[in-house]
Amino acid sequence: MKKRLFAIMLCVALTSGCVYAESAVSTESTESTESNSDADSTESAVDIDSTVRTESVESTEGIEGDESAENAESTGSMQAEKEDGRETIGIISAMDTELKLLLENAQIDHVDHIGNRDYYVGELCGVPVVLLRLGIGKVNAASGTATLLDRYDVSEVVFTGVAGAVSDETEVLDIVVATDLLQHDYGVISNDGFVWTGAQLETDAVYLCDEELVEMAWESAVEVLGEDHVFTGTVVSGDQFVSSEAYVKKLQDDFDAMACEMEGAAVAIVCSEYGVPFVVIRSMSDKADGKAVKTYENFMDTAADHSSNIVMNMLQHMHDEGAETEGN
Ligand code: ADE
Repeated sequence: MKKRLFAIMLCVALTSGCVYAESAVSTESTESTESNSDADSTESAVDIDSTVRTESVESTEGIEGDESAENAESTGSMQAEKEDGRETIGIISAMDTELKLLLENAQIDHVDHIGNRDYYVGELCGVPVVLLRLGIGKVNAASGTATLLDRYDVSEVVFTGVAGAVSDETEVLDIVVATDLLQHDYGVISNDGFVWTGAQLETDAVYLCDEELVEMAWESAVEVLGEDHVFTGTVVSGDQFVSSEAYVKKLQDDFDAMACEMEGAAVAIVCSEYGVPFVVIRSMSDKADGKAVKTYENFMDTAADHSSNIVMNMLQHMHDEGAETEGN
């Protein structure tokens, strides 16, 4: 196998105290000693005893789910208010691992507990944000995204996380910025097997990401990982972890998909419903083939961090552009 060594060192001079993230990964070996015990954790940071609870956070640096909740006390406020007219960006992931680096770098003002999810309200790279861990799968994704858009004044949504590479072009740890998303598992189980009927949905079958956000995400990803490792294209979502050569081939043939995952299309549907521009950034943790579970275990932490670094780079650009506009 062709040897590839990514050495990534981001050290952004930050007025806002944003990004310092470092990782070095070889894709030559699929062996890793790291465990991913929190990969599919759905534990809430605190007990939920009512539909909404708001907790302020004393220390705003390096927050992690459990710690933030333990150090918190109730304030009663829950809207992500616009500060100085700045827009609030919703940043969402499916799993703790995918949100970890962002939470560590964010300054969290308070945490709202709504249903069984925590909504971290604060700033990341100088940009007002609400950070949210949805849980795995399309139902969790739709539920959390709907609450986010219903309760908060969020102007744009950025999804960050990992995915299985579907296209032959993409390798583990490459990035796919979605241009459009669809549900690959929406259909009929007939006597002839599964028949995809997504195209017959009342609403559109394919949900388009915001072009400006796609461009911004692509440029940020290229800055972080280099052009050879960044792709755009169709991302397909289903409520299954794909670990099958035959199914990958089907996703290529039927949808010309670049990557597969379990939440993006649901996020896209809800954002489209609310008229909120969105983009989905996915870092390849595996190739969705027969070895996908093992590859995923080995690479998911690094892949998740890569995607987070891209989001932080993107926010930093948004912040810098905002500051420039203000200065003019
Ligand atoms: N997320 C990461 N890898 C995946 C895969 N192979 N299938 C579905 N979702 C994924």
